[in-house]
Amino acid sequence: MKCIKLKGVNDLQIATIKKPVSKDGSVIIRVKACSICGSDLHYFELGEPKELILGHEFSGIVVDPGDRLDLKIGDRVTGLPISPCLKCEACKTGNINYCSNSWNDAVGLSLTNSGGLAEFLSCRSDMVKKIPDKVTFLEATMTEPSSVSLHAINLADIKIGDKVLIIGGGIIGLMAAEFAKLNGASYIALAETNLKRAKKALKYGKVNQIFDASKPDLIEKLLKKTNGGFDKVIECCGNKYAVSEAIMSVKSGGTIVLAGISLANIDVPMVAAIMKEVKLLGAIAYTEKEFETVLNLIDKNIIDVSKYIDAKINLEKVNDAYHELISGETDKIKIVVKP
Ligand SMILES: NC(=O)c1ccc[n+]([C@@H]2O[C@H](COP(=O)([O-])OP(=O)(O)OC[C@H]3O[C@@H](n4cnc5c(N)ncnc54)[C@H](O)[C@@H]3O)[C@@H](O)[C@H]2O)c1
Ligand SMILES: [Zn+2]
Ligand SMILES: [Zn+2]
Repeated sequence: MKCIKLKGVNDLQIATIKKPVSKDGSVIIRVKACSICGSDLHYFELGEPKELILGHEFSGIVVDPGDRLDLKIGDRVTGLPISPCLKCEACKTGNINYCSNSWNDAVGLSLTNSGGLAEFLSCRSDMVKKIPDKVTFLEATMTEPSSVSLHAINLADIKIGDKVLIIGGGIIGLMAAEFAKLNGASYIALAETNLKRAKKALKYGKVNQIFDASKPDLIEKLLKKTNGGFDKVIECCGNKYAVSEAIMSVKSGGTIVLAGISLANIDVPMVAAIMKEVKLLGAIAYTEKEFETVLNLIDKNIIDVSKYIDAKINLEKVNDAYHELISGETDKIKIVVKP
């Protein structure tokens, strides 16, 4: 089958590999759609691990139901890409997202389990979820990233009337804005370095105001607007500038949720974090329930994820699309690949 492999720094190439077969009861899915994630861009820029077949936000059609007796060939599905052990304390308390096993064999994030930038993929059978009839394959690919945002907002514990700052207007930030609004935030600001994206986000109506994060007076403006800081800040970029922005713009005693991922260690304004007694929470992925909740919210039209999909491309265009997304200048938010 045709697939896309990571070959080096900023280099993805078409390759041919064997079609996956069901292993330990796994479900084999013909990929109909797979969206490109901000995390995939980190791997692309790092160029490692070589030969990785990315794509953990997928939807498709069952071609082999594996050990899932309730599934048949032709069923429309998506899935959690993770592989929790189901035995550890994290798993037993429903927190499969931080089970240490979850990422070892993750679909599209490990060398042992190829992802959705391919014609077929294999997903652990208990992680496969049926797509409701009304939800399209394109919308279904948005379940995974939207669940990341839902988890971050659940951790932030937003109260009605809270002032919330979202840092980074990619899909994680914009869906976090959607959920912050659903939870009753009274004012939602977005700080972005890419104004093309920020202006587009403003049009969607969940964000009240945008701030240019590349300007030196950013923190001053944010503090002035909120009389001393935001109740909750959701960091959705994963770089040292964004984490600093979060610490400097949260109010004393406020909460920061770190959803963005930096693969490198970063410096942070430690004294400010201590003097303000900031609550700094890491957020990784989502629980199974959060994933199911998002699928249900899409089905019930409570969230509209389709507006964030700006382009549909084939495998041949993937390398160019990654280059466009890392440029920091595109107004596109989500690009979905249809292998
Ligand atoms: N915690 C998790 O489980 C999880 C899951 C998925 C993605 N992520 C991470 O979340 C982050 C966002 O993902 P995405 O898909 O939305 O990515 P993205 O790359 O599409 O969006 C990030 C945005 O941040 C903006 N930005 C960069 N530096 C900034 C700064 N200093 N201030 C303000 N804005 C800035 C960029 O212009 C970009 O629009 C990534 O780091 C990704 O790895 C985390
Ligand atoms: Zn993702
Ligand atoms: Zn576990």
